[in-house]
Amino acid sequence: MPLLDIQHLTVTYGNVQAVRDVSVTLETGEILGVVGESGSGKSTLGYAVTKLLRPPGAIQSGRVLFEGTDLVSTLESDLRKKRWTEISVVMQSGMNALNPVATIRRQFEDAIIAHQPTGQSRMKERVAEMLKMVNIDPRYADNYPHELSGGMKQRISIALALVLEPKLIIFDEPTTALDVVVQRFIVQNLKTLRSQYHFSALFISHDLGTVLEIADRVAVMYAGKFVEIQPSGQLLRAPKHPYTQALLQCFPDPRSDQINIVGIPGTPPDLSVVQPGCAFAPRCSQVMTRCLTESLAFVEVAGAGVACHRAGLTEEVKQHG
Ligand SMILES: Nc1ncnc2c1ncn2[C@@H]1O[C@H](COP(=O)(O)OP(=O)(O)OP(=O)(O)O)[C@@H](O)[C@H]1O
Ligand SMILES: [Mg+2]
Repeated sequence: MPLLDIQHLTVTYGNVQAVRDVSVTLETGEILGVVGESGSGKSTLGYAVTKLLRPPGAIQSGRVLFEGTDLVSTLESDLRKKRWTEISVVMQSGMNALNPVATIRRQFEDAIIAHQPTGQSRMKERVAEMLKMVNIDPRYADNYPHELSGGMKQRISIALALVLEPKLIIFDEPTTALDVVVQRFIVQNLKTLRSQYHFSALFISHDLGTVLEIADRVAVMYAGKFVEIQPSGQLLRAPKHPYTQALLQCFPDPRSDQINIVGIPGTPPDLSVVQPGCAFAPRCSQVMTRCLTESLAFVEVAGAGVACHRAGLTEEVKQHG
């Protein structure tokens, strides 16, 4: 049984359909990257999974099975018991999610006391351990968030998300607000933590480079839908969807001295209308007539999939010689 099994999830904000019939599974210990342009529905997906959507955001249909239990129909009181202990979230600009009027120590202790109470001395040890784990000197435990740098606050948010050793962590743009050096440091740090803690994660980012570095598989999201999922290496070597191909051209190849960054012309569609055909068709350099009229469903088979009429054609050509 997968740890997380998202089935036909649709999420709306009034008439805006931000997540559209998304299905995907996450295995125990796996990191699934979710990448896409601003407004593609990444955060909405992350918040829907944990049921932390703010109104008017609402799950319209679908199921989110966590270890076989549907979170969509789970009562808020039962969900609250699972948050932090089984599922935790590092929010987009998480460094601002820290409580400004409590010391770092207090924030760790509050989480521990609420869910897994333990003695004072053990708690002190635990806070020090958690800070060291993200390479922060434990003497900062008695500081307030505003006394620390952005990178330190973000690492503390990550340590907080890990303190009760949850099985699943949702990272929403955990490094986006930081400079490149700090970003790289945090990604390296996360890789080490993952080998110690064996958590599974949804790692959301609009930065394909970061996602490729940390994730086992990558889901590419466009206009509320997944258009392609592949193991990271394969996505980098042989992207199938024209949107993925275009995204890959938007960041420089570190192995090449040529820098040739191509933007993607056009803008994403208005999510308050549901149009026939492929949502990427108006911007696609390989568009065919059927792309404008025939929708196609994304199907994940053995952890991978692509929703493109053209990708389907090449498969057919391969199969029939
Ligand atoms: N509170 C809200 N009310 C109405 N529409 C919203 C709300 N929050 C998000 N949306 C819309 O839902 C769509 C998806 O937004 P979402 O924040 O999930 O995208 P994202 O991929 O996380 O983008 P970003 O990279 O900018 O964080 C967007 O079109 C956005 O305008
Ligand atoms: Mg977002």
